[in-house]
Amino acid sequence: MEGTEQAEKKEKKKVILSGIQPTGVFTLGNYIGAVKNWGKMQDEYDCAYFIADLHSLTIRQDPAALRKQSLDAFALLLACGIDPEKSLVFIQSHVPAHSELSWVLSCYTQFGELSRMTQFKDKSARHADNVNAGLFTYPALMAADILLYQADMVPVGHDQKQHLEFTRDVATRFNNLYGSTFKIPEAYIPKAGARVMSLQEPTKKMSKSDENPNAFITILDEPNVIINKFKRAVTDSEKEVCFREGKDGINNLMTIYSVITGRTLEQIEQEFEGKGYGDFKLAVGEAVSEELREVRENFKRLSADKAYLEQVYQAGAQKAAAISARTLAKVKKKVGLLVK
Ligand code: TRP
Repeated sequence: MEGTEQAEKKEKKKVILSGIQPTGVFTLGNYIGAVKNWGKMQDEYDCAYFIADLHSLTIRQDPAALRKQSLDAFALLLACGIDPEKSLVFIQSHVPAHSELSWVLSCYTQFGELSRMTQFKDKSARHADNVNAGLFTYPALMAADILLYQADMVPVGHDQKQHLEFTRDVATRFNNLYGSTFKIPEAYIPKAGARVMSLQEPTKKMSKSDENPNAFITILDEPNVIINKFKRAVTDSEKEVCFREGKDGINNLMTIYSVITGRTLEQIEQEFEGKGYGDFKLAVGEAVSEELREVRENFKRLSADKAYLEQVYQAGAQKAAAISARTLAKVKKKVGLLVK
C-alpha cells in the first residue's frame, strides 16, 4: 500500500459501491435516481461502480447484444460523469472474485430466505419458462459484489432494498461464525423525490421496458424527442402547477424539474403561477434536454473510441481484482479452503 499522507487520507473515506445491469440505455429515471448522484459522490467518498453483466445472464440474452450493451453501459457511466481518475469503474465479469465469493456465500444462504425474495418471485412469474438457479441465487452474487469491497454504503433503488437486507444478513451470519470479516453495508437512500415515474401512467415507475415509448425518456434521446414526450405527458384536468396529492403527473414533472434545475417545489410553483401546463411541460422538456446534452455528446465521443474504453475497463479490472483479492483470501482461509 502507498505510504503517502494523501493515500492514507483517501483510505479513510467511506466506500460507496453500486452496480447497474447492462440491459439497454439508461432512462431518465436511472439517471436522476442513480447515476447523476453517483457522479456527485466521487469527491466525498471512495466510489466503486460496475456493470453487473453476470446478473444479466439470469434472463436469457442475445450474446452479441449483451456484449454491445455492456460496452455501451460502460461508456454511459463515463458519459454521465463517472471519472475513472476518481472512482473505480469496472465490469463485473472481469473480476473472477465476484463469482468465487458468490459460491461461498451461497453455501451460507438458506433456500428459504432466497425463496422469499420478491424480485425472484416476480421474475420467475414473468419468465416462467426459465426459472434458472442463477435467478434464484442472484442475491448471493449481489452480496459478493458488495462485501468484497467492504462497502460502507450502497445506493440502491427501492427494488433492491431487500437484496441489500439479505447482504447484511449473510455478512452478519458469516462474521458471527468466523469473526469480523465483512463490513456490514448500509443502504444509501438518495434524497426524497428522486423516483421518476412513467410519463404516461405516473403512478408507475419509469421503465425502459414499457411498451409505450412515450412513457420513458432515455438519456440518449434527441432533444426534439424529449420535448415531444414531455408535451404528451399525462397530467390532470386542473390548471395549476402545484405539488399536491393526487396530481401524480404534475408531481412527477415538478420533481424532475426540481432535480434538474435545483429549484425547490415552491419556487417552481411561483415560476409557473398563472401559466398553463403547456408552458410548464415545455420548460421541463427543455431543461431535461439541455441537461442531457453533455451526456449525449460525451457518449458519442466515448463510444467512438473503443481503445480508450478498453484501456479504462482493463485498468478498472486490475484495480478491482487487487482490492477484492484481500477479502476473498480472508474468506477462503476462514472457511477452511487450503490456501495455495
Ligand atoms: N441488482 C442490481 C440491479 O439490478 C444491480 C447490482 C448488482 C447491484 N450488484 C450490485 C447494485 C451491487 C448495488 C450493489 O439494479
